[in-house]
Amino acid sequence: MMELRIQLVPTGEIILPPGKNGENYCPNCSKVVGMMESALTARDRVGVQDFVLLENHTSEAAFMENLRKRFKENLIYTYIGSVLVSVNPYKDLEIYTKQHMERYRGVNFYEVSPHIYAVSDNAYRSMRTERRDQCILISGESGAGKTEASKKILQYYAVTCPASDQVQTVKDRLLQSNPVLEAFGNAKTLRNDNSSRFGKYMDIQFDFRGAPVGGHILNYLLEKSRVVHQSHGERNFHIFYQLIEGGDEDLLRRLGLERNTQQYQYLVKGNCSKVSSINDRSEWKVVSKALTVIGFSEEEVEELLNIIASVLHLGNLQFGTEDSGYAYITTDTQIKYLARLVDVEGAALKEALTHKKIIAKGEELMSPLNLEQAASARDALAKAIYGRTFSWLVNKINHSLAFKDEQFPSSKNTSVIGLLDIYGFEVFQQNSFEQFCINYCNEKLQQLFIELTLKSEQDEYESEGITWEPVQYFNNKIICDLVEEKFKGIISILDEECLRPGDASDITFLEKLESTLGGHAHFVTHKLADGKTRKVMGREEFRLLHYAGEVNYNVNGFLDKNNDLLFRNLKEVTCQSENKILSQCFDKEELSDKKRPETTATQFKTSLAKLMEILMSKEPSYVRCIKPNDAKRAGHFDEVLIRHQVKYLGLMENLRVRRAGFAYRRRYEVFLQRYKSLCPGTWPNWQGRLPDGVSTLVKYLGYKPEEYKLGRTKIFIRFPKTLFATEDALEVRKHSLATKLQACWKSYSQRSKYLKMRHAAIVVQAWWRGILARRVAKRRREAANTIRRFIKGFIFRKHPRCPENEYFLDYVRYSFLMTLKRNLPKTVLDKSWPTPPPALTEASDQLRKLCMQNMVWKYCKRISPEWKHQMEQKMVASEIFKDKKDNYPQSVAKLFVGTRLNGEEINPKVFQALGNEKMKYGVPVTKYDRKGYRARPRQLLLTGTYAVLVEDAKVKQHIDYSTLQGISVSSLSDGLFVLHLPCEDNKQKGDVVLQSDHIIETLTKVAICAEKINNININQGSIKFAFGRGKEGIIDFTPGSELLITKAKNGHLSVTAPRLNSR
Ligand SMILES: Nc1ncnc2c1ncn2[C@@H]1O[C@H](COP(=O)(O)OP(=O)(O)O)[C@@H](O)[C@H]1O
Ligand SMILES: [Mg+2]
Repeated sequence: MMELRIQLVPTGEIILPPGKNGENYCPNCSKVVGMMESALTARDRVGVQDFVLLENHTSEAAFMENLRKRFKENLIYTYIGSVLVSVNPYKDLEIYTKQHMERYRGVNFYEVSPHIYAVSDNAYRSMRTERRDQCILISGESGAGKTEASKKILQYYAVTCPASDQVQTVKDRLLQSNPVLEAFGNAKTLRNDNSSRFGKYMDIQFDFRGAPVGGHILNYLLEKSRVVHQSHGERNFHIFYQLIEGGDEDLLRRLGLERNTQQYQYLVKGNCSKVSSINDRSEWKVVSKALTVIGFSEEEVEELLNIIASVLHLGNLQFGTEDSGYAYITTDTQIKYLARLVDVEGAALKEALTHKKIIAKGEELMSPLNLEQAASARDALAKAIYGRTFSWLVNKINHSLAFKDEQFPSSKNTSVIGLLDIYGFEVFQQNSFEQFCINYCNEKLQQLFIELTLKSEQDEYESEGITWEPVQYFNNKIICDLVEEKFKGIISILDEECLRPGDASDITFLEKLESTLGGHAHFVTHKLADGKTRKVMGREEFRLLHYAGEVNYNVNGFLDKNNDLLFRNLKEVTCQSENKILSQCFDKEELSDKKRPETTATQFKTSLAKLMEILMSKEPSYVRCIKPNDAKRAGHFDEVLIRHQVKYLGLMENLRVRRAGFAYRRRYEVFLQRYKSLCPGTWPNWQGRLPDGVSTLVKYLGYKPEEYKLGRTKIFIRFPKTLFATEDALEVRKHSLATKLQACWKSYSQRSKYLKMRHAAIVVQAWWRGILARRVAKRRREAANTIRRFIKGFIFRKHPRCPENEYFLDYVRYSFLMTLKRNLPKTVLDKSWPTPPPALTEASDQLRKLCMQNMVWKYCKRISPEWKHQMEQKMVASEIFKDKKDNYPQSVAKLFVGTRLNGEEINPKVFQALGNEKMKYGVPVTKYDRKGYRARPRQLLLTGTYAVLVEDAKVKQHIDYSTLQGISVSSLSDGLFVLHLPCEDNKQKGDVVLQSDHIIETLTKVAICAEKINNININQGSIKFAFGRGKEGIIDFTPGSELLITKAKNGHLSVTAPRLNSR
């Protein structure tokens, strides 16, 4: 089970399937592994998918049983390691769809069930990853499915490989080359309805992206004899039937053909022109289309078909015999057609077909041919024309597939996958030269297989010094030598017979064989054979014991076919052909070339040797095709037939070597490189010798001694499971390595990011600092200049305005004006004013004035009428009392009121007494009697024309302003005042002594009302007043600490008042 998950690709690389479709647990290593097994359907698990997994791998019966079981379930593919064994199902299986292709694309070998696509994909991937050319060798006997397999592979690449528009044409041409080549090179044989009658090796070129960009085909020995003769039950090449069945009427008319294959001698020999499995008509369409895809022009197609038709006409040429015994042509119409189709002169052709040119003594003679000779000359011409046209066709296809450099300029180095589909081993009732060549070719391929798998593997163990018990296998080199050895080989002997002068014939050839090769283990003739064998051998036959079985070859025709000669005059005629294809096929130079061309067998031998070289230079993958029965029947498993093939294909030996050997090998350096991370001793690098490193590594991994061997340059691991466990460990290890790498990378990338940012920041900083510094420097420079100008200006300040001081002066002016602006006086009383510089004194004064005017104006504008009135009164008060009375300053701040007595405080009767006069001011006062100086409260009311003293409701005294002579007050802070009145008449009581708490206000009001501003006397020391007829009183004012009004002993009124201001 477990081995299944390991892929042993030809490189020895082991690839584990990823567990993408769910996970499985491997019982041995208890680790999660890919779930290939469960991904397989039960059907797919019939038997084992790889013979290597057979319990009893040495048992042929078990092998056959596995093959049979799977075949019955339509599982036609099984592996032996990396070799694919395929059994022809003879029916369409639904396993070649696009989905199938996708399933195999890029998926590891063993992840999916065995398939031709897996092999294709594996070769493709190996080519891409290792850049090594690959080849896929498909072998098996005729009808085993080789050609089908090669087509499937081609289709797989065409579908799955990356493509561009250009590549699409390449892909199309690659694909379309097949139907064309099959039409011209395949035929129905008894073994296979579509048997390849030529060998084909095709290189597909891929560019570095893995897209197909070109191709090249090598063709090998076409079975030309089929053109003129077919065995019973066989057909000529498909193209003849396709043309007759499928070509439209017009075309057939042009070619002079009838739609009836029975009409053509070259098509009736096998008596089998119709086959149920072949639809010539539809094939014709496919081929016609393919020809255009490949790039045939209409003319080219026409000329190609002319040639095909001319071959048919040639076949219908009939000869009669003259009396002389010489042949003449009885069917002139054919000649007419021929002359037209091949584009030669009819008469020349006619003569060439019935004569032979002989050069005797330097003279050219035309010798007539007899009937038999003429017929064989005709057939030789037909074969030559067809054979060469076929080679031309391959050439033409190669031109169209050629990798064109200018088209894909990017594809300098192309890699190649080669596909070999060559005729398989075949045995008929009658086997001739062609079978001999075909089977020889198969011997060579078997030899190559042995070389590359069985032998090289065992040789490797030996060269590596690994103890190894050799697996016995049959090496067919002995048969190859028998055929191709110089001087002693069959081909050499045949050539010798062909070349030697004298009467050489097929029989003399046989005799020569007998005499030279008699006794060879793989060679028998009738004469040399024992009695039993003689019974089944004709006298003209020799038998070769091929690796794949015994084959009797009839020597009849060997010499002719090997010589492959065309009479010179026939060559001359065809060389004249105007048909472009034929003129290319028959080169005029050939006529002048006197050298004898190489014989067919030798040519074939050489081309095979070259093919082997090509194949050896590439990495091979194998597809071994098996034919299940001879009846081309689906589902029929012919045990005997298959066992035989298993045997001669060497599959059992192949299996044994695979099993006995080591599943895996790798050069020390490669192994160490891959797994070194699993052992601390070898990680990260091993410094010592490589084998020691590998040894350390595997010991650390716990490999048991029987599990591995160390060779000279490689380690060999016996069981896949050992490596599987190692791969598993690597898988786990990869995770931690990946994490570490990630971490390192992240840190690295972050750090580089950071460093970049930092660098960027520093650059930005530097720039910004530069900018700042430049700004500062600029400012400093400007400042310095300013200072310099300033100083200069200061020095020149006294000079008249000049450039040196203009800045300074401006600055001083500016600075003064700015200072002034900030320090302008806020009120009219504010007398502050900045000191102007000398030059601005005048301006400053002007400004000051303006400013003051402005403030005054503003102040005045703001003044209300009440306030104006107040101010006017204050002005009067100031005129009267300023600097004269002690308590004046205290009064300044106190506003004068309209009246100190309101309506309720004055008796209404008083108002009545006032009559029309409106009271302007009222104030409570104290009246001092003139005699006793008694103080009595009174109200003093002022009107427009007089003042009254009121005691409650009674007007005590009425004073007309006109009678008021003056008013006296002291200079002290007291409130005493005297109203001087005349006392001449009795009514008048004389001066009145009053006291008011608001002396300044009261007297100002009186002065205004009475218009007696200039009549107020401010006295110091004492005031005299008069009362009644010359009587006089005196009031003495003395400054004291407090206000005291008393009657003094001297009869004076004494007033002491504090001095508030020193004057
Ligand atoms: N994989 C296949 N699936 C179906 N039929 C197949 C397959 N391979 C071969 N055949 C049948 O077998 C026939 C012979 O196969 P072919 O490839 O021509 O044989 P070979 O080239 O080996 O002589 C085909 O024409 C086809 O009918
Ligand atoms: Mg074939």
